[in-house]
Amino acid sequence: QMDIYQCGDEAARQLPVSFDEWENRAKEILAAAPFGYVYGAAGAGDTHRGNVDAFQKYRIRPRVCCDITKRDLSVSIFGTQFPVPFLLAPIGVNTILHPDGELAPAKAAAKCGVPYILSNVSSVSMEQVAEAAGDGVRWFQLYPPKDHELTKSFLKRAESAGFKAIVVTVDSTLLGWRETDLRNAYLPFLTGQGMGNYFSDPVFCSKLKEAPDKNVKAAALKALEEGNNTCFTWKELDFIREHTRLPLLIKGITHPDDALLALEHGVDGIIVSNHGGRQLDGAVATLDVLPSISESIRGKIPILMDSGIRRGADILKAIALGATAVLIGRPYAYAMAVAGEAGVEEVIKHLVAETELQLAISGRGSIQDVDPSLILKVK
Ligand code: FNR
Repeated sequence: QMDIYQCGDEAARQLPVSFDEWENRAKEILAAAPFGYVYGAAGAGDTHRGNVDAFQKYRIRPRVCCDITKRDLSVSIFGTQFPVPFLLAPIGVNTILHPDGELAPAKAAAKCGVPYILSNVSSVSMEQVAEAAGDGVRWFQLYPPKDHELTKSFLKRAESAGFKAIVVTVDSTLLGWRETDLRNAYLPFLTGQGMGNYFSDPVFCSKLKEAPDKNVKAAALKALEEGNNTCFTWKELDFIREHTRLPLLIKGITHPDDALLALEHGVDGIIVSNHGGRQLDGAVATLDVLPSISESIRGKIPILMDSGIRRGADILKAIALGATAVLIGRPYAYAMAVAGEAGVEEVIKHLVAETELQLAISGRGSIQDVDPSLILKVK
């Protein structure tokens, strides 16, 4: 980790270091509407603030005089060993942030050995992302469409393009009340951004009166309609389960009873998430619900967690409370806006180094040694 300090030359330091700096720099660079799209949260922003604040309820209680010469951040998920305990969360419409779109985070993640979860509503199609990511581990996130044929097509394409797991997001069958976007009259999808997977899909295109490029808005509206899958129930999840042999994760769980139902319906992993506070305002913070979900799942399947992770300390707290690994969202989105692939790589490297240092200074040599004894609830 000394490299981080020793290589801190002029050129490197032209990039921000902390989350707040990345966010401020992104705000300077981006137009108000795309910045607001990333920054924004639902309603009064209570869920978003609560996610971040929840980490202050816990403090790390270090042990000393432990041999921390050897340090291991790796975690195992579905039998695959990953070098670090975090993944890049699915974030859609990346061309509003950088012209390379999802190719930037996909390449940076592959370079660093961090799994990348590609959003269903990516600007770039999953096949193009797969090509750019090469051997990098990638998962595909699905907003379950209403049409089963379209669902099957997305699943089949993801499998053919080498995605290694399917993440079904269940907290967004309707878009949350986002006042920043209302104020800016901004819904990027309507200009065709975020439609990379839809507009390249034969099943989707066969449902249109004319090709997507002939009437972008009509095609985008049709895609959004598919995504407003308000009749999505556990039975629909069964359909997805039956139509993929890949590990299946459910994203957007915050209640232990839903976690148990998901387990009954055959998922292989749970992602405790409230979409970074972008969907339901006034909802519980994910860190607050993690212990009860962990208790109900009892180690049967991995539990991942996101919403509010900003630092190495946050990652360790989440793992201490039962997460196998975490997802990061806005931190890499801002970095992409500022410096594309290089920005995402910088954020990943800093997070890895910070997590490793935090782990070691807290007296633990490996992520496997992180358990509830690492932390103390103070509020
Ligand atoms: C998201 N998120 C998201 N989730 C998902 O399942 N599919 C998606 O397409 C998107 N798109 C998206 C866009 C933007 C701009 C943001 C900020 C978030 C939610 C994302 O995967 C993750 O749950 C949160 O970002 C985690 O919270 P933090 O790290 O941003 O606080």
